[in-house]
Amino acid sequence: MKIAVLGTGMVGQAIAGRLAELGHEVVVGTRDVAATMARTEPDAMGNPPYAEWAAAHPDATLATFADAARDAELVVNATSGGVSIAALTTAGAGNLAGKVLLDISNPLDFSRGFPPTLFVKDTDSLGEQIQAAFPDLKVVKALNTLTASLMIRPRDLTDGRHTVFVAGNDTGAKKTVTALLESFGHTDIIDLGDITGARGTEMFLPLWLRLMGSLNTPFFNVRVVR
Ligand SMILES: NC(=O)c1ccc[n+]([C@@H]2O[C@H](COP(=O)([O-])OP(=O)(O)OC[C@H]3O[C@@H](n4cnc5c(N)ncnc54)[C@H](OP(=O)(O)O)[C@@H]3O)[C@@H](O)[C@H]2O)c1
Repeated sequence: MKIAVLGTGMVGQAIAGRLAELGHEVVVGTRDVAATMARTEPDAMGNPPYAEWAAAHPDATLATFADAARDAELVVNATSGGVSIAALTTAGAGNLAGKVLLDISNPLDFSRGFPPTLFVKDTDSLGEQIQAAFPDLKVVKALNTLTASLMIRPRDLTDGRHTVFVAGNDTGAKKTVTALLESFGHTDIIDLGDITGARGTEMFLPLWLRLMGSLNTPFFNVRVVR
């Protein structure tokens, strides 16, 4: 499948690399290709600059958000939550219309330091805001509840016996995203219903952040026992 991964951070890199490895045609989207390739500093989390990752992943090409989205059959939103709607607007509503969007973003507000707060919650979610801003897009919220390396290689933890979620209004889009998650190795994928289910997975973040602090690692996930 032709897939655009919007986002050059650790999530964009992880998802793009895994999709390319699985044989998909992957274009990574960024604001400014030259600026992204010219970065030499690690990001705020200490991850190496994009060019270093790109050199090791020649199968994934880099393009502007709009060029990446234009030819894609499926689009992944791996941009910072506070700017996701701006990034998707730059990608172009016309380039996104009718497509499936796997939305991994979280509505984290770091303006008052750590831990971040949620800039939308309770009666709304970032997933819903993206769906409302782009009504022709088939938004499926997924994978925002675990760290990037586990999104793409769930079997590295307890042999994959842990849970991920999908939420979205379009049944066919959820089937497409579920198949992708299965191809990554996920086996327990719970359908939370329509896109309002994103409220639950986004509001899981305060607990996720607290667990990361207590366990001193992001390498964990929840398993829903039933
Ligand atoms: N890190 C994790 O393990 C993890 C886990 C679950 C969910 N998430 C969520 O996944 C998303 C990506 O996380 P991340 O840590 O990989 O990267 P990030 O640092 O949150 O986001 C990086 C991306 O945001 C874009 N961006 C930044 N400012 C922008 C602006 N003003 N306008 C348009 N685009 C802008 C960057 O564009 P350029 O390429 O142009 O720089 C880059 O592609 C976030 O929403 C995060 O909350 C992360």
